[in-house]
Amino acid sequence: MSVHKEIKKVTTNVVIDMKQRGEKISMLTAYDFSLAKIVDAAGIDIILVGDSASNVMAGHETTLPITLDQMIYHAQSVIRAVSRALVVVDLPFGTYQGNSKEALNSAIRIMKESGAHAVKLEGGEEVKESIQRILTAGIPVMGHLGLTPQSIYKFGTYNVRAKEEAEAQKLIQDAKLLQDIGCFSIVIEKVPAALASIAAQSVHIPIIGIGAGGGVDGQVLVLHDLLGINKDFSPRFLRRYLNLYDQIQGAIEHYIIDVKSKDFPNASEQY
Ligand code: KIV
Repeated sequence: MSVHKEIKKVTTNVVIDMKQRGEKISMLTAYDFSLAKIVDAAGIDIILVGDSASNVMAGHETTLPITLDQMIYHAQSVIRAVSRALVVVDLPFGTYQGNSKEALNSAIRIMKESGAHAVKLEGGEEVKESIQRILTAGIPVMGHLGLTPQSIYKFGTYNVRAKEEAEAQKLIQDAKLLQDIGCFSIVIEKVPAALASIAAQSVHIPIIGIGAGGGVDGQVLVLHDLLGINKDFSPRFLRRYLNLYDQIQGAIEHYIIDVKSKDFPNASEQY
């Protein structure tokens, strides 16, 4: 399967079209210029400047502490690197739940100050007004259902969501609602694969899964997890393509030895 690089710029219409044609959508997080450049050059369809930056970049336990200013900083760095992918930026906790005016202002700041192409926010019916108001400004919105990490203190754990019938039914209703009010796509996180597959069949906009099985329209992972930079996060849904933690540590240990032993720099590495 070759990577679909002939598309010069991925737009929201391109990803909707991919679903219609049955082409799976690839999505990864990125938070900085250097890695975003590589991810874009590889041909990824969507780059998510996720609020997982709170964990991955800043070392917080949850996604709650990251601020709008910090998300904008990450988004600006990513946008400078990207020429092909659609760049979606998470609205951080506390910047859209209060009221729809605040949500619109937050989304406008992201779009205006970073040059991003769309925003993502967590929740269904509860955040309907916020989403509608953002959409009125012409800002594309990606929804996020299932495990919504900004509600970790309500859930209590990061376990699989929507195993019970009532929560499963609400997820399908919310997916239809998000589609009907105008979201261009929805991330569904950590729910049973059969349920995610029903959600994907129930709407015409793409469902992008993380820990939601193969019956959806695309997949998203946190880049640092895929690269094996984190050692202590090993959920069942994660496929690691590299073991960078050990490789980076090994390279640095090698450098330290070279410095201490006076092997570095050698004659050709100086002026
Ligand atoms: O913030 C993030 O990285 C996300 C993905 C897990 C979908 O929302």
